[in-house]
Amino acid sequence: MMERLRRLRRSEGIRNLVRETRLSVDDFILPVFVTEGTDIKNPVESMPGVYQWSIDKLEEFLEPVIKYGIPAVMVFGIPEHKDEVGSEAYKCDGIAQRAVKRIKEVAPDLIVIADVCLCEYTSHGHCGLVHEGKILNDETLPLLAQAALTLAEAGADMVAPSDMMDGRVGFIRSYLDENGYTDLPLMAYSAKYASAYYSPFRDAAHSAPAFGDRKTYQMDPANCREAVRECLADASEGADIIIVKPALAYLDVVKAAAAEVRQPIAVYNVSGEYSMVKAAAENGWIDEKKIVMENLTAMKRAGANMIITYHAVQAAKWIYEERAGKCQ
Ligand code: PBG
Ligand code: ZN
Repeated sequence: MMERLRRLRRSEGIRNLVRETRLSVDDFILPVFVTEGTDIKNPVESMPGVYQWSIDKLEEFLEPVIKYGIPAVMVFGIPEHKDEVGSEAYKCDGIAQRAVKRIKEVAPDLIVIADVCLCEYTSHGHCGLVHEGKILNDETLPLLAQAALTLAEAGADMVAPSDMMDGRVGFIRSYLDENGYTDLPLMAYSAKYASAYYSPFRDAAHSAPAFGDRKTYQMDPANCREAVRECLADASEGADIIIVKPALAYLDVVKAAAAEVRQPIAVYNVSGEYSMVKAAAENGWIDEKKIVMENLTAMKRAGANMIITYHAVQAAKWIYEERAGKCQ
């Protein structure tokens, strides 16, 4: 008997019924860049549609987030002053801490996830302390833990260490627990690659390393088995959610991670992935809506439970419109 697979593709209705993967607004986490100053909504040139916001303008940023019911945002702070040790990352009134506080005031039910890293705050742009050209691991951990604690105190609902130092998940977990934050979930950037896809983000966050690269702490793009080790290590140290980053060139890693750990998996659809789509769409070379929906669907198909994406508002709008169209 011939397999007639086309039977279930005959109509839109049947295709909807048998669809294996569905995108929902509930899947999305929208990153936000927050800067010092007032009345600032500064376009990020390499990321059309993305802005740096000052704290007093966050209400405007949040308007579509609330309107479309996007469940979560991820906060990145851009400080005015950077130093060798990233002091602004773990000050109680640092830019990210104040931003978290403001977002929770405007939108108390929105989940606010705070990125925890030093690279936006250090003069050398590395994710850890530097000594004689080397990025120090263990010496960096207390600073990351302090950043996590101050962000928790500011009202963050979750913290997300993105530095890729060994042992940071366990270290941060114990520190949060000792300080009464046993219930605060930890979302770990477990498989974070030393990727060229981050360059627009580094423009947006002014966090490009001043010397060298991140290859001694971020992962080699050639490796997948090692990513599984990273995920298992973070899971055993207490990570509640595991992040794979970037997304599209790493869907095999997403699939492997989803198979090997029991924690929910998040993918980070990073800046370079976003900007490539935007640039091609602006040139009329691709259909932005179709490409974005296809990309995001592929991330879920690979095993992601949630997606950190700069497309969140736009994709939420498209999902909403599609629904409204069907209800007529
Ligand atoms: C900081 C950090 C980076 C991203 C998220 N957190 C950049 C980096 O490691 O250089 C990248 C996000 C993106 O490209 O959208 N550690
Ligand atoms: Zn970093």
